[in-house]
Amino acid sequence: MVAATLVLSLNGIFPTTEATAGTLRGGGDSTAFFYMPRSDVVPLHTGRALTPPMGWNGFNHFHLVVTAETVGAAARAIVTSGMKAAGYTYVNLDGGWDLRWRGAGGAIQPDPAKFPQGIRPVADYVHSLGLKFGIYASAGMMNCAGTSAGSYGHYRQDAATFASWGVDYLKLDWCYIPLRSFPHMPRRQLSQLLARQMGDALAATGRSILYDLNVWTEDEPWSWASNMAHMWRTTPDIQDWYRSMLWNFTHNVNHYAQAKPGGWNDPDMLEIGNGGMSTTEYESQFSLWAEMAAPLIAGNDLTTMSAITRSILINSAVIAVDQDPLGRQGYPVASSGGHWVLTRPLADGRRAVVLFNQTNTPATISTTVGQVGLASAQEYAVLDLWAGTATETTGVITALVPAHGSVFYEIAESLSPPFKS
Ligand code: GAL
Repeated sequence: MVAATLVLSLNGIFPTTEATAGTLRGGGDSTAFFYMPRSDVVPLHTGRALTPPMGWNGFNHFHLVVTAETVGAAARAIVTSGMKAAGYTYVNLDGGWDLRWRGAGGAIQPDPAKFPQGIRPVADYVHSLGLKFGIYASAGMMNCAGTSAGSYGHYRQDAATFASWGVDYLKLDWCYIPLRSFPHMPRRQLSQLLARQMGDALAATGRSILYDLNVWTEDEPWSWASNMAHMWRTTPDIQDWYRSMLWNFTHNVNHYAQAKPGGWNDPDMLEIGNGGMSTTEYESQFSLWAEMAAPLIAGNDLTTMSAITRSILINSAVIAVDQDPLGRQGYPVASSGGHWVLTRPLADGRRAVVLFNQTNTPATISTTVGQVGLASAQEYAVLDLWAGTATETTGVITALVPAHGSVFYEIAESLSPPFKS
């Protein structure tokens, strides 16, 4: 009886035409489920996202009303603002691009009011600028806003459609998951199953598609998604105010052990330039996200951004820390009283150190080269990544840090080669 229920449940994942014989096996109870990867498909995960993805997504500014024009304008602005040269590559659609109901043959349908020519020409245009194109889908019955069809029951079909449109990046959201169809399966296990199935569907297309899992944070994706997806959300949706940014920082910072080339913790997209935080706070978001090897997905209107916003987003020294090839996420060595010291080992042996003052009053934050993990030496060079100034120390690192602000240093033994420009 249990086994029969399980078979029915599995058929509920994909319609019969989509079921992949031999890829799923049922045991005597739901906890005995396991997934057999297809042997004829190159694993999606291999050799991609070796540094955290960088790009733009319209949701934080435009919410669900992104159109073909919005995407085209953002793509042009990435090029003309210098963001492309700084490393921003992906131009991503978020929720709201498709209709609530599928068309003939179950095809997912772009909203014709927003994308009158469909998605393919939009992707082509993004590609023509030397950029990559991303799209959004939900693992469940609808997108999270309840306005668009979800991909449940259509994973292979949608993956094939996305590949045919030239999609390079899929953000898979987790809404309207039909939990009741899986009464015997723990929720986390179901999330793993669905995440793997869409990964398999993407891999089966043969196209290189970066896989961004927006799975429920209660399912602790950092503990299981690293061999499945290239990034996974660790936090609730960010909002454009300091407390939200702080919440997402503090809920991402301790998962440093799981981040590595090919798989990154995602504390959600950037709010820099959206107007709800001060320049100091936006610099903190950029510093903290780079220190945590987070994806840098800008979320502002790139066509109207100020010179200050642009200068934050294209700070090449900070971006170089985010993109450091060693791929280690920075971790805290002190946080007492909201005075944080974070250290991140870099490929060339230097350390990226953030002194972050979470509190509402300016504070002197101090650490030592030993505490941040540098080997013993006579003198160290200290480069301030926001001020662009270089100083030296024999061991103590200290700064007066404004309320909600960060000081970002790259520190090396003085005898090492000069800092990268
Ligand atoms: C949320 C998701 C956001 C955004 C939004 C769109 O579930 O976490 O990042 O994609 O849906 O409705």
